[in-house]
Amino acid sequence: MRLPEGQDFAARLVNWHKHHGRHDLPWQNTRDPYRVWLSEIMLQQTQVATVLPYYERFLRRLPNLDLLAAAPVAEVMALWSGLGYYARARNLHACAQAVMGAHGGEFPRDPDVIARLPGIGRSTANSIATFCFGAQAPILDGNVKRVLCRAFGIEGFPGVGAVERQLWALAAELMPARNGGAYNQAQMDLGAMVCTRGKPRCDACPLNDICVALKSGRTTELPSPKPRTAVPRREATLLVLLDGDRVLLETRPPSGIWGGLLSLPELPATADAASWAAQHFACRVVAVSPAPTFDHAFSHFRLRITPLLLLVEPLAVAREPGLRWVGADEVAQTGLPAPVRRILEGLVQPSGSNPLLSRKR
Ligand code: ADE
Repeated sequence: MRLPEGQDFAARLVNWHKHHGRHDLPWQNTRDPYRVWLSEIMLQQTQVATVLPYYERFLRRLPNLDLLAAAPVAEVMALWSGLGYYARARNLHACAQAVMGAHGGEFPRDPDVIARLPGIGRSTANSIATFCFGAQAPILDGNVKRVLCRAFGIEGFPGVGAVERQLWALAAELMPARNGGAYNQAQMDLGAMVCTRGKPRCDACPLNDICVALKSGRTTELPSPKPRTAVPRREATLLVLLDGDRVLLETRPPSGIWGGLLSLPELPATADAASWAAQHFACRVVAVSPAPTFDHAFSHFRLRITPLLLLVEPLAVAREPGLRWVGADEVAQTGLPAPVRRILEGLVQPSGSNPLLSRKR
């Protein structure tokens, strides 16, 4: 796998990054592990442009590790809502508490110790250690896997154990003795900006004279795709209980999809909506009407969602723990899973333009 003499992989990337990489992202030019760690977690499976506003807002509300550890997990979930992959937020909170508890509030510096914290894998630990503590530790996120598979012509889906081990060994071999942070950032940027999944910009790539995939016309074939398996499908009916311009929200159980987030109550598969609602939410159901079904993709399954609108008259103040009547004006400020927001934004409009809501009761 060695490059010919004088064609040092790391030096090429660092030099490319100096002239063409990203240098002013808000988590760069700092060695503060809190800011770097937060960015690395948000950037897992999520693009820079999406992360930016969430990152800024998160830091405004929770500017340091002590405040994050002390915050209610619900606040962290609300700050995360819309970013997806919510286990990241729960782990982030657990990690802050672990650093406060087991490490005296000081972020550990050793990559192996960092990698044992909640929600931090080997690649993220090594990123943090190189960016903040001057470690020389290789990374292997999705972007880096793509660059290595193409440059070195590595076959096989990179998520498979044997291929991943081969990539880790190669990443370790290529790791330079100095400048680990610049090198790791360069690999991430090359993967995000040049060696992209579709339509890579090979003309602008500092590796284009040695890239095996380019030389053999296989840039569209490498990295090898994940072997196809049928995506499991599930179905859920979400209840939209409307009382005037208020809607009933319920905190989801801590595990499972949207764990810990406020959401619309879910109707068990065999239950009748009107009697379920009357029984569990202390209300009289005036009218029931289905709204259009739509699909939402999670990482490991596809959920077919049917919203069911129920016009209700509450018979008592909802005092059940986890239940909350939320006014239409408040919905915009409430942290909600993206499909729930989509349902409500189509229905609950403060202007009263929703025909259901403007109906006189
Ligand atoms: N993806 C993961 N980490 C990143 C970083 N530090 N900069 C840009 N993209 C990234």
